[in-house]
Amino acid sequence: MKISVIGAGNVGATCANVIAQGNYASEVVLLDIKEGVSEGKSLDMWETAPILSYSTKCTGVTNDYSATAGSAITVITSGIPRKPGMSRDDLIGTNAKIVKSVTENVIKHSPDTIIIVVANPLDVMSYCAFLTSQSPRTKVMGMAGILDTARYRAFLATEIGVSPRDISAVLMGGHGDTMVPLPRYTNVAGIPITELVSAERLEAIVQRTKKGGGEIVKLMGTSAWYAPGAAAAQMCETIVKNERRIFPCCTWLDGEYGLKDIFLGVPVILGSNGIEKILELELTDDEMALLHGSAEAVRGVMGILDDMKLFA
Ligand code: LAC
Repeated sequence: MKISVIGAGNVGATCANVIAQGNYASEVVLLDIKEGVSEGKSLDMWETAPILSYSTKCTGVTNDYSATAGSAITVITSGIPRKPGMSRDDLIGTNAKIVKSVTENVIKHSPDTIIIVVANPLDVMSYCAFLTSQSPRTKVMGMAGILDTARYRAFLATEIGVSPRDISAVLMGGHGDTMVPLPRYTNVAGIPITELVSAERLEAIVQRTKKGGGEIVKLMGTSAWYAPGAAAAQMCETIVKNERRIFPCCTWLDGEYGLKDIFLGVPVILGSNGIEKILELELTDDEMALLHGSAEAVRGVMGILDDMKLFA
């Protein structure tokens, strides 16, 4: 099964690398507009194969979408990352045009591909790819929930002094500071988180999680790539293996949680058809209010996309 990753920057290259090492795809194609970059990175990955013992063919191309033909999954990482002081929403003017043109090229060569969007602002770029591809909603999704949940789980693991593997959590909403980590759905090897972490510390960790992307931008001057790349690759693995794992993913809502015509992060079952099922949790009034607040923030950014008249 072939997987294409568009954009050979830090996130795209990391994603392709994790996919190659996972050894579940027959080929991973890395495409970028910069001459030589994806060819070089793919060759480097192929030269890693004998060391780490994988067979995934690694192909790199400059803007040649014919090499992506027949991809079962396409990950779109193209676009600019944020700099210190920028919000993800500041990127829309540049990234919407890029995501639209990339999606057109992708669909031309792989009309049935499942699309995973990683470009920011994530929820609205997923919407942009959905509008462009005209694919069913099961086949166009955004990667953010796995990343945001991973940050939350990592912070909790540090707090308690346990393996992050044992921390299971649900986080919903947009990929921005309005995201909604849900302590009521967080446990450590089955033990409710509230039995191990004080309410005060838990609240501090929730707040840190919401700004987790910004924390890294402040440290490095650009956005993260290890966790974002690995998170997108985990979605690919689950789809290729038809594992039907439950992850928070950014998906088109059609009335679920009282929300309609919006891309937002909610828990879903991922399998070979893409989004196999959206899970509707029984949220409390407070949790629901936070989710709807996050949806309002995403709708504001959707308005900016509409004003660009790319789909008029
Ligand atoms: C982050 C970027 C990738 O959260 O949105 O790190």
